[in-house]
Formats: sequence, C-alpha cells, structure tokens
Amino acid sequence: MRVVTTVAEMKRLRSQLPGSIGLVPTMGYLHEGHLELVRQARLENLTVVASIFVNPTQFGRGEDLATYPRDPERDLELLEDEKVAVVFMPSDQEMYPEGFSSWVEVEKVTDRLEGAYRPGHFRGVATVVTKLFNIVQPHRAYFGQKDAQQLAVIRRMVSDLNMNLDIVAVPTVREPDGLAMSSRNTYLNPEERKAAVVLWKALCLAQELWDKGEKSAERLRQEMTSLIESEPLAKIDYVSVADPDSLEELGDIDRFALVSLAVRIGKTRLIDNITLGT
Ligand code: PAF
Repeated sequence: MRVVTTVAEMKRLRSQLPGSIGLVPTMGYLHEGHLELVRQARLENLTVVASIFVNPTQFGRGEDLATYPRDPERDLELLEDEKVAVVFMPSDQEMYPEGFSSWVEVEKVTDRLEGAYRPGHFRGVATVVTKLFNIVQPHRAYFGQKDAQQLAVIRRMVSDLNMNLDIVAVPTVREPDGLAMSSRNTYLNPEERKAAVVLWKALCLAQELWDKGEKSAERLRQEMTSLIESEPLAKIDYVSVADPDSLEELGDIDRFALVSLAVRIGKTRLIDNITLGT
C-alpha cells in the first residue's frame, strides 16, 4: 500500500494505476461503515484509492474541527488489511495553499436540513470532493447512505457539472442496538450512548407506521418527535420526511421518502435516516 501526501505525487501515481479506480473519500478515524465502502469499492474496481483528510472548510465556527477524532496509524493498518492500493493523505496546506479562492456551490438541495443547521458545510464538502475527484480521477466514488443529504448534493453536483464518474451509495452500518456507526459516536459518554439509540427507535417507528399503511408524512414527523422528546438527553434539530433527491418535505408519502433526523445527545450531534418505499 502506498501512502501519498502530495497532489503532485498522487497525480503521477494515478497514471500508473491499473484498471478501474474506486475512490473512498474519508476523514479518517475509520470504523466498519468506512470499511464497507472500501469492500464495495474492491468488489467493483481493480484498484482502490482511499483518502484521509479532515477537511477544515466543511466545519463551521463552533463545530468540532479541533477535537475531531484522529488516529492515522490505526487507519492505515485497517486500510492495508482491506488491500487498499493507495492512501491519499494530504495536509491542509497541500489542499488549500495560500491564495486558494475557488469554491463549488450546489444550490437548493443544500438549503434544507443539514444545510440550514450548518451554513457553508456543503460548500466545503462539494469543494473538497471535487478536488479529490480531479486529483484521483476515479471511475467510481463511494459514500455512505448515512449522510443522505451529502449523497444528494454530490449526485446533483456530478450531474450538473458533467463529472465523469459514478457515485455509489453504500448502506449504513449499525451497532447491534441500531445506532448508526459514526466517528462522532466516540464523543458519547456511557449514559449518552444508551440515549443515542432513540434515533434508531424513531426511524423504526416511522417504518412501522408506514408498513401499517400510514401515508401522512406529518403524522410520521409528529410520532417520531414525541418519541425522541421522551428521551431527556435528546434535543431535536430536525425530523424530516422528504423527497430523497430534492429534500423537499412531503405531505403525503406517495413515492420514495427519505426519513431523516438530526438530534443532539448532550454536546454530540447525530444524524441518521432510512428510505421508505424501497
Ligand atoms: O463524509 C465524509 O467523511 C466527508 O464529508 C467527505 C465526503 C470525506 C468530505 O470531506
């Protein structure tokens, strides 16, 4: 496995990599969810490139950039075990050198949900992902379904800007009690960790109501909200039942619906989602 830290070296190496290239962009502190992305990429490509870069431009003021968990040595061991060919691990300076002043803005789909609570977040994501695509030039790139809005934004961007690759969504990997795996779960103390399962319980309730024939998105939002509010450590940012592409809130669920939520458990903000109608 080659570990590459400069854009120039990554580009040079890219021209020598055989067959189709699958890119797995990450911010490190890898867990099973990331490893599933790598495994899917290996199934579909001859060569897998993973990137590890805690992208400063997608963190807002007051967010957790400084404390974001990092363990590059362990990450490299895990990626080596998964037979990743190349790990691109640039510094902040390498990705955003002095004078950097170009940004990728995806409109509309970024206005809602995460975009409304984290202004500028998707500008940072779209910009760094575009840079990674340009540097690595993959045939396919792999993203977790857990960040459903990120996926919708990246798909929109790839389509709007005629980018020459396929975006592959990989299902969310969960802990045995249903909590979606996330690097941020490490922030939870034992009491908060127990409380955090309320996100999954709320999503299961939405699924159950839908399975019983409930078609009102508002009823789902209300029932999920009451359930989450019964957990004293949980504070809701949003509970949404929306169109999976536009993220516009639905009235009646008459097509696929993305049920998503963001909930703060203590100081930790967690997101999760399921899709109904699949
Ligand atoms: O999902 C993530 O880990 C990040 O948002 C990504 C896609 C690696 C961009 O920094």
